[in-house]
Amino acid sequence: MPRLVVVSNRVAVPDPEGPRQAGGLAVAVNAALKRREGLWFGWSGATCADDIAYKPKVIERRRRSFVTIDLSHTDYQEYYNGFANRVLWPILHYRVDLAEFTAVELSGYLRVNSRFADALSGFIRPDDWIWVHDYHLLPLAKELRARGHDNPIGFFLHIPCPPSDILLALPQHADTMGALAHYDLVGTQTEHDAENLRQYFEQQGASFGRNRTSFDFDGRRVLLRAFPVAIATGVYARAARNAIRSDFAAEVRESLNGRKLILGVDRLDYSKGIPQRIQGFGQFLDSYPQWRHHVTYLQVTPTSRSEVPEYADINQTVNELVGQINGRYGEPAWTPIRYVNRAYSRASLAALYRMAAVGLVTPLRDGMNLVAKEYVAAQDPENPGVLVLSQFAGAAEELDGAVVVNPLESEAMAAAIDQALHMPLPERQARYRRMYRHLAANDIDRWAERFLSALAESRQQPRLFDNLRQLFAARASLFF
Ligand code: F6P
Repeated sequence: MPRLVVVSNRVAVPDPEGPRQAGGLAVAVNAALKRREGLWFGWSGATCADDIAYKPKVIERRRRSFVTIDLSHTDYQEYYNGFANRVLWPILHYRVDLAEFTAVELSGYLRVNSRFADALSGFIRPDDWIWVHDYHLLPLAKELRARGHDNPIGFFLHIPCPPSDILLALPQHADTMGALAHYDLVGTQTEHDAENLRQYFEQQGASFGRNRTSFDFDGRRVLLRAFPVAIATGVYARAARNAIRSDFAAEVRESLNGRKLILGVDRLDYSKGIPQRIQGFGQFLDSYPQWRHHVTYLQVTPTSRSEVPEYADINQTVNELVGQINGRYGEPAWTPIRYVNRAYSRASLAALYRMAAVGLVTPLRDGMNLVAKEYVAAQDPENPGVLVLSQFAGAAEELDGAVVVNPLESEAMAAAIDQALHMPLPERQARYRRMYRHLAANDIDRWAERFLSALAESRQQPRLFDNLRQLFAARASLFF
């Protein structure tokens, strides 16, 4: 089995003493590295002076090497806070209106990709497979190829891919989206995302085979498919069963005082639709006053990317809305919304999911949204809660037992919460079983296997231009 080299913006180096807090990307990468020799390369999360950045630090843990580099202060601003999170993130989430482009930041982004390639290059062996993750590293394969690495290289986009017209709004898109053609395999979260990317490459002049799963562009053949990211379903369900017996769970349950829990868990990000959700909840209290005093809405929202101005704005908006709803509907003995700006361990979140009668997952746009999947996996099969899910989350393509809403429609959100709270037990059980079966059959190990076998397949396809080159060389040798 070849060694797997994983590259992502951040690296989750396991802390043998710390609590288990792995996010979605870390769970996915760990699944890919399971039972094989591997190396995980990326940014340490630290910044430093320009002259000492990019010195790789290697940590060995069992059969895995974790190689991290620090970013210089300038690169951190231009690449991470700049082009990645002020241009790519909003545009790929369909928010062209929020994109703040500068040529300096684009060149910082391209420079960091080139520096990643320089730092990684010396670690790559000829027979390694390389798997690159997410929008921070779109041009990395191009940089690695320029340094002579002909290894199989796959890319997975964790966030959405909008229609071609929106991608064309991305300044100099050929240097970022177009550079995806240097990978052997490109994976998206949903079939909808894959089709959007196909249309983009078609407009750029790529030619597609009849089944449209691979295309030829600029002398390369690229396989392009959807691989909906998943969770460790069985492990998560077990964690929730145990976590519900914790002191933390007991304390929260006691504080609810018999009220039903409505739960939202999101990073503080404008793509998550938190203001719209709070307004939907306000509408619910207005339209269905019989539920006042009988529910508590807990919104757990760790802050994120706080140096990016749009994130500071959303923070203020959410704080104001929570204050307004609590002020309008609250009573001395009842606070409708509890808003918490803190990250919790995987076990604590699993306990909250299991306790919640309603899981509100209503992003305005989301590649997949693993909170939706974790919420389902964490439920008690005898008495499951109900998932209220945005039609704009990638997870909506799979979780057909959810109550699906348009997050922009407050009245529909209010009605969905009411429907979820009233839903009879047999219907809740039937919906839960359908979704759990799907999540158990399509867990994170299966996801990693599917991606890696497609990467192997991508190298077996005849490469159009290689074949033409060989044919030309053979003919030329007849003449000389
Ligand atoms: O969802 C995309 C993603 O980049 C994840 O990989 C990551 O966990 C999350 O956003 C948070 O991003 P950041 O690394 O910017 O805090």
